[in-house]
Amino acid sequence: MIHLSVRATTYLIGSLAIAVSISGCGNEAARPAGSAIESSTPAADRDWPLHGRIDGEDRFSPLKQIHTGNVGDLGLAWEVPMESQRGLEATPIVVDGVMYVTSTWSRVFAVDAKSGNVLWKYDPQVPREWGQRGCCDVVNRGVAIANGRLFVGTFDGRLVALDKDSGEELWVTNTIDRDKPYTITGAPRVVGNKVIIGNGGADYMVRGYFSAYDAVSGELQWRFYTVPKNTTGPFEHPELEEAAKTWDPNSTWDLGGGGTAWDSMAYDADLNLLYVGTGNGAPWPRFQRSPSGGDNLYLSSILALNPDTGRLVWHYQTTPGDSWDYTATQHMILAEIQWQGEPRKVLMQAPKNGFFYVLDRATGELLAANKFVRATWATHVDLTTGRPVFTDTADYSEKANVIFPATLGGHNWHPMSYSQQTGLVYIPAQDTATYFAPDRLSILTESMHRADMETLLPEPWLGFAVLVAWNPVTRGIEWKVPYPTLGNAGVLSTAGGLVVQGDAQGFMNFYDATSGERLHRIPTRTGIIAPPVAYEIDGEQYIAFLAGWGGALFVLTEQGTAARNYQNNGRLIALKLGGGEVPLAAPLANPKPLPAGEQVVMLSPEATRGRMTYMIRCGACHGWFGQTGLMPDLRTSPQSNIDNLEAIVIDGSLVPLGMPSFAGVLSDTEVADLKTYLNAVRVGQ
Ligand code: HEC
Repeated sequence: MIHLSVRATTYLIGSLAIAVSISGCGNEAARPAGSAIESSTPAADRDWPLHGRIDGEDRFSPLKQIHTGNVGDLGLAWEVPMESQRGLEATPIVVDGVMYVTSTWSRVFAVDAKSGNVLWKYDPQVPREWGQRGCCDVVNRGVAIANGRLFVGTFDGRLVALDKDSGEELWVTNTIDRDKPYTITGAPRVVGNKVIIGNGGADYMVRGYFSAYDAVSGELQWRFYTVPKNTTGPFEHPELEEAAKTWDPNSTWDLGGGGTAWDSMAYDADLNLLYVGTGNGAPWPRFQRSPSGGDNLYLSSILALNPDTGRLVWHYQTTPGDSWDYTATQHMILAEIQWQGEPRKVLMQAPKNGFFYVLDRATGELLAANKFVRATWATHVDLTTGRPVFTDTADYSEKANVIFPATLGGHNWHPMSYSQQTGLVYIPAQDTATYFAPDRLSILTESMHRADMETLLPEPWLGFAVLVAWNPVTRGIEWKVPYPTLGNAGVLSTAGGLVVQGDAQGFMNFYDATSGERLHRIPTRTGIIAPPVAYEIDGEQYIAFLAGWGGALFVLTEQGTAARNYQNNGRLIALKLGGGEVPLAAPLANPKPLPAGEQVVMLSPEATRGRMTYMIRCGACHGWFGQTGLMPDLRTSPQSNIDNLEAIVIDGSLVPLGMPSFAGVLSDTEVADLKTYLNAVRVGQ
């Protein structure tokens, strides 16, 4: 059984200093000029007002001034430094000439979307120790704007409302149990007068839920738990009574069950349905979590709720009894497509498990489920029962297996896009596998050990990113573009016939939406993972995006990725026709050394224990595979740092740099074992 002890540090919200630095806000002169030039574009098409541009989140821009014929003339309109060297994942929101975007540590920037002048900044002062509570970097995917208010979730679990014009704080609400490793990285959504937000943490053992808060007061309106806390009740809401029937009464309830809703939502105003995607189980393997089996509702599910009441209308579970970290938190798109000759309102999702799902979004009826990448855990999904048919490979309760897709997923958080012109969905997919074994202390980290992978795979293999153009009607791949490394970025499609996607090498790529032909690419030398957006001001179209490598792959800066050779200073870049040169990131003074982790080191029992601690506590930032990422490679640490590890790891001497203190988390023995391990694997000193 997995027991990851949860840190018990309490953070006092009241003691957090909330700093708002305002420059020129509320001041007419600092605001962008109004539309001086007449534009024939309908007002609704000019902005990017919501996370996925529209409630249905198709991320298709109706703008067509930039098109397949002139995309080669794109150049820099402006850029803004994001004061970050870590992952940038946010979708910029553009309303009335102002762009609102988030940087790392949940900081908000308001920028004049025409000139690039920064209007105001807001820093929620997330305690840097919170960094250790997230699996995948201190990222944030963006804000929501409604009725003059801006909403942002903070990495330490607060929901904040700001005045959108001044950046002044209106209210701050704590959304979590602060003794548990919850985080918020997703963008809030606003439905009517409610702000909806979930959280992350299932990889670190928490119970998933999402909540609705009053947009004006910040008061909690309703909360939906995605998993029960036991099978006997009392239940917080009736849906949990149903869910409880799908769990072993002897489940590892103290580990929370998982099911965190850390990213995707969409809203259908006609049906008044809010769709929320839920995450993986905690712990990962069902044979540990719910030993006698069961579907374990509502893990890895798409939930449709009435947003007024928070009551469930229907649900569809993509991966019953999830044991593979196959979250269904991936982007959902609402569209109307021709289904067997009839127009049908559908919801489309490409979750981590590698199947592309098409559901009737009024009823939840499954219409299609087809593999868009290699997936070896199931042969197919039975459309009559709506259930996957598992392969023998999927079961790793007794024997280790390599299973496709990996825990990274066939598709992760990177938003896809549906073009209303081509009828295709452009998926930032990835071909990946994970080594799953029954006897690991922590499936979270140990399962990914590369040496084990190599005993089962013919050659060193970490996976590759691939942009897939999926036809939801014919249920097949129309075209695809492979990338040379792992590491993908969100996608935009436009009425100009373009598909726009960045890459790990630091290029912004422009493809023909019909053929997949690459028409143009702009080098930045900064790895890109965030999705681009399109907007128009004064009759001129822009394409804007964040460049900044990090996220789940920040431990994995492979050869060929920009962050291995160039400084990873995050920036917000806007392009327009006839613009200038995009500045290239400067080279690193000392390019990262090549992976040295290939050598086999015989470890003493102490060092083996140290390695385990390293995997659980340190690897998420300093790297699991022996590759060098953005954080220092501890195999090359100065000897004095290893000798005095307590100063850094317990006393917190590097907390200001983002290196958390593990005081109260690591025992003296664990620190001693860590030292033994780090000394055993030292290279190059
Ligand atoms: C949340 C991310 C995170 C985690 C988890 C983490 N570190 Fe760090 N660590 C950092 C950052 C950030 C720095 C400072 C980087 C810099 O120098 O700018 C750092 C620096 C260090 C350094 C000094 C740099 C060097 O090369 O010697 C040591 C030693 C270190 N960490 C050890 C550990 C150990 C041991 C663990 C696990 C118990 C751990 N860290 C877990 C983020 C992390």
